[in-house]
Amino acid sequence: MTLTKPTVLLTGGAGYIGSHTFVALVAAGYHPVILDDFSNSHPAVLDRLQHLTSQHVSCERGDVTDTGFTAEILRRYRCVAAIHFAGFKAVGESVAQPLKYYRTNVGGLISLMQAMQTSACHCLVFSSSATVYGDPESIPVREQHPCSPESPYAHTKLVCEQILDAQRTANPAWRVGILRYFNPVGAHPSGLIGEDPHGIPNNLMPYVTQVAIGKRDRLQVFGNDYPTPDGTGVRDYLHVSDLAEGHVAAVRSLLTQGESFTVNLGTGQGTSVLEVVRAFERASGRAVPFEFAPRRSGDVARYFADVALAKNVLGWQATRNIDDMCSDSWRWQQHNPDGYSTKAPAGKINPASHQSRQQPAGAARPLSPVLP
Ligand code: WQD
Repeated sequence: MTLTKPTVLLTGGAGYIGSHTFVALVAAGYHPVILDDFSNSHPAVLDRLQHLTSQHVSCERGDVTDTGFTAEILRRYRCVAAIHFAGFKAVGESVAQPLKYYRTNVGGLISLMQAMQTSACHCLVFSSSATVYGDPESIPVREQHPCSPESPYAHTKLVCEQILDAQRTANPAWRVGILRYFNPVGAHPSGLIGEDPHGIPNNLMPYVTQVAIGKRDRLQVFGNDYPTPDGTGVRDYLHVSDLAEGHVAAVRSLLTQGESFTVNLGTGQGTSVLEVVRAFERASGRAVPFEFAPRRSGDVARYFADVALAKNVLGWQATRNIDDMCSDSWRWQQHNPDGYSTKAPAGKINPASHQSRQQPAGAARPLSPVLP
């Protein structure tokens, strides 16, 4: 008797976190199915996923806001769960274009839930964000911390969480896992999949990698007068492969334990901008010229996660450190200078193990600030 693998729908599954979660789900014995309109991702990722998983990649091109289409896919593949990644995530853009964010982020979730309801699929993992906490009153940030979103993007995430809670109350058959991501960075150690932002990167790590390959002149460090050890912003950076494994743990928990949950996914460690730059220079052997610039509006000084609940509820914790994040980010960027528009890297990239590489003491290179 052939046991069919449990099938999980990944909306936005061709994107940065979705594609890494695809790999992790296959490794854990699930059959992931991608639903993506490729408005913010590249079809070239599919061949790379096939290479990495040595199996056919089930992918349906379409928009999750098309409820009928989504329901048909859920039924056709007999999905037992869904992970909802599809949505926009640029904080600044959400301030300029709030309707785009509410329509897609909130409307997309409602459409998916309606499709799931009609397809008797009641297990949903939702990609939320630590930005729902706003500027935290206490760190490390626990899940009980009050939520006070400070951008339309963050507000869409909180509204989605509230919709999920309301649906769970209305229909106890629903099992919901809400994952509040801190700062996802890094790439699969193979160098074949990674973050491929369109245009000028908003986030730190992709900007740093583009400076290192010479695509950008220098990094602007937004503020060096924060109340932090070196004056620059402190965040909880989480390797995207750890984040992907967190999603596998979330799906497994919903399918086996049946209890809903909301957990932070982070490392519980804070790392400053200058520490990221130093770690990246160590990992890549490349200088990352930078200059100090005024604070970016909307930024907070410092936040990182309390990760006890993810460990207790999901049995999950991060295993990769900032050195792994930097070396894996560098390998991806070095072999894909134009992201997925780069021809498939010639030859096989030697995937490194993700064991942290301890630098010999004193190996840290001097930072290379470019004086204004
Ligand atoms: C990190 C640090 C910056 C760029 C964002 C969004 C949200 C969330 C995580 C999904 C800060 C500094 C950055 C640069 C810099 N993702 N920085 N120069 O703002 O913590 O969170 O990503 O929910 O999308 O809230 O991440 O990478 O933009 O910034 O100095 O060119 O790096 O000031 O201290 P952030 P980030």
